[in-house]
Amino acid sequence: MLLKGKNIVITGSGRGIGKALAIACAKEGANVGLTSRTLEELNATKKEIEDLGTGVKAVVKTADITNFNEVIEAFMAFHDGFGLFNGVIANAGYSRMWTTHEFINDKFSEILNANVLGVFYTFKAAYPYLKKDDKYDKARFIITGSEAYPNAPPKLTAYVATKYAVVGMQKAMAAEYKRENINFNMVLPTQVDTRLLRGKKAGDGNKPDHVLNPWDLNDFYLFLLSDDANKIDNALIFAWDFNEIKKLLAGTPSGKKENWEVFKDYLAEKAPKIYENVKNLGKVVDFIISRSK
Ligand SMILES: NC(=O)c1ccc[n+]([C@@H]2O[C@H](COP(=O)([O-])OP(=O)(O)OC[C@H]3O[C@@H](n4cnc5c(N)ncnc54)[C@H](OP(=O)(O)O)[C@@H]3O)[C@@H](O)[C@H]2O)c1
Repeated sequence: MLLKGKNIVITGSGRGIGKALAIACAKEGANVGLTSRTLEELNATKKEIEDLGTGVKAVVKTADITNFNEVIEAFMAFHDGFGLFNGVIANAGYSRMWTTHEFINDKFSEILNANVLGVFYTFKAAYPYLKKDDKYDKARFIITGSEAYPNAPPKLTAYVATKYAVVGMQKAMAAEYKRENINFNMVLPTQVDTRLLRGKKAGDGNKPDHVLNPWDLNDFYLFLLSDDANKIDNALIFAWDFNEIKKLLAGTPSGKKENWEVFKDYLAEKAPKIYENVKNLGKVVDFIISRSK
């Protein structure tokens, strides 16, 4: 098991990407701290984890990520439940679409608060409980970004602002905490079939083909939480690039896809732009290859 005995906290784990990831972490042997505002959804995630029968702990505590005291209380409960945190995923997020000059002021602030202040509160509340005593097993702080950085689609000004902001926050924090054993990394998904993108239609089986399932992202987070990523810091993992690589790998002749070293020339020839984007993240490709075996 990839994460046996590790303790991972995931915000926004009641549904969508956070829920899929929480279940994936539990399957890999990690205890998980689950938080969002909706108790029923958190309990449903916990039940699915308990039904796996892996014996991991799943601790549930509601918190509004924009309320610092609630976040502190949740993280205290997780620490009481399983001890110091090996990884924290700042994943909770929210978006609304409007023409910018008509955007309701309070909604604009709500999005900034959830997606930016929420990441700050997550880090600040987690910091005392991050396990930072081992340079060979560093604590991981992972943010769920978005392809809204750097693509900036229209009518999403507030959301785009937040997803640009967290890239800057990561860069600043990675520099600031360089001497402590904490790595900062980000997964930047394309469109995913969740409530945030498709409202109540999420999971209805009718998603457009280009839209990912929430669990399609699990490998990227699992890699960042794994021992293989101990030296990966301030990386941006663009889901689109690596999903294209997954598709390409499926059609790559054997002998050219055993590992990154042998695959990279093939990738450079077949998809030079993707190669340029990922060439410093060969370890992610190695991880994807090893998971597909
Ligand atoms: N779906 C996509 O296409 C897509 C693409 C790129 C990036 N992302 C990012 O992925 C992350 C997860 O979103 P998702 O797609 O999985 O959407 P989702 O299914 O709507 O899940 C969002 C999660 O965040 C929680 N949350 C929202 N506001 C919160 C608040 N104020 N306090 C505490 N928890 C809050 C929600 O729970 P409650 O509402 O119960 O609190 C829920 O558990 C977000 O950061 C989003 O920006 C999504």
